Amino acid sequence: MKNSLFGQDLTTVDSLEASDLALIFQKTDRMKKLTVEKGGDDSLKGKIGAFLFFEPSTRTFSSFITAMQRLGGGIIPLNGMKNTSVEKGESFEHTVRVFSTYADCLIIRHPEVGYPTKATQVSAVPVVNAGDGPGEHPTQALLDVYTIVRRFPDKKELTVTLAGDLKFGRTVHSLAKLLLKTDKKINFNLVSPEMLAMPYEITVKIKKSSSVFETSKLSETISVSDVIYMTRVQKERFENPAEYEKLKSFYRLDKSLLTRAKKEVIIMHPLPIAANEISHELDDDPRSLYLKDQLKNGLAVRMALLDVILNP
Ligand code: CP
Repeated sequence: MKNSLFGQDLTTVDSLEASDLALIFQKTDRMKKLTVEKGGDDSLKGKIGAFLFFEPSTRTFSSFITAMQRLGGGIIPLNGMKNTSVEKGESFEHTVRVFSTYADCLIIRHPEVGYPTKATQVSAVPVVNAGDGPGEHPTQALLDVYTIVRRFPDKKELTVTLAGDLKFGRTVHSLAKLLLKTDKKINFNLVSPEMLAMPYEITVKIKKSSSVFETSKLSETISVSDVIYMTRVQKERFENPAEYEKLKSFYRLDKSLLTRAKKEVIIMHPLPIAANEISHELDDDPRSLYLKDQLKNGLAVRMALLDVILNP
């Protein structure tokens, strides 16, 4: 399969073609097998990744670090820029130029939309967006789409419910758009309080090829969903803490709500769960993938992505 991603940036899912997904997902299958059978290999030996996280992270940061190390690569791991010269006032552009001199790729998370793209203008090496404010989270979408398509290989049509904070939730912005690049027909249910609705431009985009049902009531979508993708209300994006307090527990998915769900429904969440939007009683439910498949697939997808970006 042709690798068009070698040496390329990944700042938005808009740049990915269906053929890129096919390549990444085929490699992801291979990375899962490799990890189980041998722990890893040396395919990224001699390559260094700089992981510049200007905003907190548990999964994205650690899985990228693990991915690089399982493939024999080296790491510059900065989970938070404290103790770097950013604290002394060094500009974002200079920081990027410095690390792009040392490393072969930059993985950047930033609280402001567009900063990974800004980095591409001064970086000498490929830049991957690991989440930019309420913008996008392309690698989360890759692992989410991989999880969905591998779970439902034979279904040509899927009903996907995206619920919670669709306004500030970058994972659902990328996921909604990336699902359109699969070979499946997607019916979207967009479930949010009015104040946290999906950005207009994304809704317009997905409406071009998919049916879209918008509601504030999660209960209206349970029985028809193949995928229920919950998200937390993004506390850090609110200017008014009282507004966050009012909205943070708007939804709660629990066993009782799921009694009307399809037998094969899957429950997903990018994590962290912050305000009980999924009840803990569902953590070990066989339908829940957020503490199982999504985590494992996140590591394998990031191994695959680093491999295609850094190896021709
Ligand atoms: N899903 C996700 O981005 O998690 P982290 O914030 O822990 O990286």
